[in-house]
Amino acid sequence: MIRSHVLICGGTGCTSGGSVAIGDKLQQELNRLGLAEEIKIVRTGCFGLCALGPVMIVYPEGTFYSRVKVEDVTDIAEEHLLKGRIVERLVYKEHEELDMSQVPALGETNFYKTQLRVALRNCGVIDPENIEEYIAMDGYQALGKVLTEMTPAEVIDVMKASGLRGRGGAGFPTGMKWQFAAANQADQKYVVCNADEGDPGAFMDRSILEGDPHAVLEAMAIAGYAIGASKGYIYVRAEYPIAVSRLQIAIDQAREYGLLGNNIFGTDFCFDCEIRLGAGAFVCGEETALLTSIEGNRGEPRNKPPFPANKGLFGKPTIINNVETLANIPQIFLKGADWFASMGTEDSKGTKVFALGGAINNTGLVEIPLGTTLRHIIYDIGGGIPNGRQFKAVQTGGPSGGCIPASLLDTPIDYGNLTRIGAICRAHLVARFRKGGCDRASLRWRCFPMRF
Ligand SMILES: Cc1cc2nc3c(=O)[nH]c(=O)nc-3n(C[C@H](O)[C@H](O)[C@H](O)COP(=O)(O)O)c2cc1C
Ligand code: FES
Repeated sequence: MIRSHVLICGGTGCTSGGSVAIGDKLQQELNRLGLAEEIKIVRTGCFGLCALGPVMIVYPEGTFYSRVKVEDVTDIAEEHLLKGRIVERLVYKEHEELDMSQVPALGETNFYKTQLRVALRNCGVIDPENIEEYIAMDGYQALGKVLTEMTPAEVIDVMKASGLRGRGGAGFPTGMKWQFAAANQADQKYVVCNADEGDPGAFMDRSILEGDPHAVLEAMAIAGYAIGASKGYIYVRAEYPIAVSRLQIAIDQAREYGLLGNNIFGTDFCFDCEIRLGAGAFVCGEETALLTSIEGNRGEPRNKPPFPANKGLFGKPTIINNVETLANIPQIFLKGADWFASMGTEDSKGTKVFALGGAINNTGLVEIPLGTTLRHIIYDIGGGIPNGRQFKAVQTGGPSGGCIPASLLDTPIDYGNLTRIGAICRAHLVARFRKGGCDRASLRWRCFPMRF
């Protein structure tokens, strides 16, 4: 009988810090101490606090160990797991001066307490290589509900009512995009997941794929049902090997469980997904260039119109959605459009994941309700600028983004405000890549306080 679970972060950050070797060593120690039957190691996706990696958490106590090294593992196994004595020197304390009795539970720390995890809900919580852990967290329930209780039109209505807007580009309303594709009659339609994530410093999509790949597959199947597509492609950059491998494992498992393939949930609906690897061209994140690349051609943007919903992959109606957009969708069907629309601001519903990088103490991954100020993200969650130095500016949105100065730190972050303050406009880039240009301002999100 399992009495304890040790969750070890297997996100890219902690993996590069040695978390695989730490997990292997811990398994050896559990075997040596005769604890292998009682204590289970779970390798998860990113916990969020990447700056402290490699990290692990021991349940049921909830003890959070940070900056763990292979040399620490014997202590953790012998002291904590065998004798029940926490290894204090490795416990994350938020403030060094705290003694153990004052250490808050992880969820109560400044980093986590105001976060709202919707797209990241399973990251750092489940083993992404085990479909049963996803199912245990209500995974594939939304797909079951959609297929057995709702018509495609009702699915689109829920999406529209939720107010979800695309997290990868133009902030286009997702339900409306689906409606356009659904309205087109064709012998074949496609659902494409944009996991190209070309912006330097961004790792939101990678982390979702590494930590919760089934959420994306489930959402793609829901999208397929809504628009009448039976085929999906996930375009992911080859520089994301962990994401690619977990995604392939997830696809194989979903097929094995009958959650991808023919007659899903005993209905007439058939849907399957394949991965396509990108070679790291930034422009291939642009939806029409991405489609051109999937078709086997040089990834160059096409003029719009026609939009992909009318004439997309191989000339067929296609919807393209970003990884994070998709990761929200199963929860919308489980908890309801009103629940989702109750978070965020008037024009921007829900939450947003940010990758915090650069000159900030808590580099990592955070998810906050839209409308949160940059000051809160940078100072309260991010822990401020290292060595108490003065904040100068934050760069959001990658190469097509903008630098937001200190005077705008109290701006609530949502689509409208970021566009208003000129923080990002992909139009310049599109214009550079193709002559036609683009009239849509769009947002890509990361948070990169600058050194000075
Ligand atoms: C130059 C350029 C690069 C882009 N790169 C990405 C990207 O890496 N990932 C992404 O999801 N969207 C990217 N986009 C936006 C996509 O074209 C598209 O709007 C998005 O995938 C739609 O999904 P969404 O509606 O779920 O946001 C890029 C757009 C441009 C103009
Ligand atoms: S990669 Fe381990 S906490 Fe982010």
